[in-house]
Amino acid sequence: MTKIGFVGVGKIGQTIAYSIVMDGLANEAVFYDIVPEVGEKFEHEMRHAVTTRGLNVEMLGTTNIDDINNYDIIVITAGKPRKEGMSRRDLFADNAKLMFELSKQLPNRNPGALYIMVTNPVDMMASVFQKYSKQFTISTGDQVETMRMRSYIAKKLKVPVTQVNGFVGGEHGEDAVIFWSTVTVKGKPIEQYNIDKKEVEEYVKKIPAEIIRVLKGTTWGPATIIKDIVRSVVKNENRVMSIAVPNEFEGEMIHVGIPTVVGASIGPTLESTLSEKDRESFNAALRDFHKTFKELMSQVQLTA
Ligand SMILES: NC(=O)c1ccc[n+]([C@@H]2O[C@H](COP(=O)([O-])OP(=O)(O)OC[C@H]3O[C@@H](n4cnc5c(N)ncnc54)[C@H](O)[C@@H]3O)[C@@H](O)[C@H]2O)c1
Repeated sequence: MTKIGFVGVGKIGQTIAYSIVMDGLANEAVFYDIVPEVGEKFEHEMRHAVTTRGLNVEMLGTTNIDDINNYDIIVITAGKPRKEGMSRRDLFADNAKLMFELSKQLPNRNPGALYIMVTNPVDMMASVFQKYSKQFTISTGDQVETMRMRSYIAKKLKVPVTQVNGFVGGEHGEDAVIFWSTVTVKGKPIEQYNIDKKEVEEYVKKIPAEIIRVLKGTTWGPATIIKDIVRSVVKNENRVMSIAVPNEFEGEMIHVGIPTVVGASIGPTLESTLSEKDRESFNAALRDFHKTFKELMSQVQLTA
């Protein structure tokens, strides 16, 4: 019996909710958005979709946050998306205020829920939400970059995607780093293949902005990947995924992407299995994140 709440029913929120419900991962789902009728009309759409599939799912679309009551998993996509030319960090101030508000509203009614942050800048929003809610929060981190990296290598080398492995870590976005020591094709290190690593890195960093320029947002890729994160939790699959989990750094809980076992419980991370070079990249990402996070937090006023 899994109850999954969706906070934000916009472009990515709808796509994630659709993917999760149609995969049969939720017995109950609530679609909450601040804009009147959005959640409610989306509920109708979803009812029509589950009916043809023969799925019995309790669903509610609402503008009342109190309807998210006793939920197991809460997926947060509410907030501003970036427009063409913006960086994810440009969203920090507006979305941090929203996370602060949600951190005061959601936890009381949902004890023990797992919070999954999607709103950008996603790792920082997870840290803001966790800081003020004191709830265990994960960020979708670099699992999206990980799949972008694997897809590009598979296409370039003309091999099945299932034969490409490896992870991207660090902060989601322009600062993400490919952990090259983890990347294999048909079980062999990537160094044995003729591929330009810089080109792969460029693709992983630049493709989201290109998709946003034309399609006004990224949806299907991230939504399917985020659904798989939820799937791994609900089905206790224990897949290794590059999400960001709370990590204590200089007294602050911060979120930076690292391959992590994702199941009914989250962890451990696979940090110790990385090469020294990749571990150093991860530690550098933690240091950079912490510094930027403190700077950005000092520029916003978060009070009740
Ligand atoms: N982590 C990822 O990989 C990833 C991928 C895609 C998008 N995103 C991020 O997800 C967020 C949403 O993107 P989108 O394209 O769906 O944007 P969108 O504008 O289509 O949807 C955002 C929704 O949030 C709602 N909202 C705003 N304030 C709210 C509040 N206080 N309570 C409830 N709902 C509220 C809006 O009404 C809107 O429906 C953005 O920050 C975007 O950058 C992250």
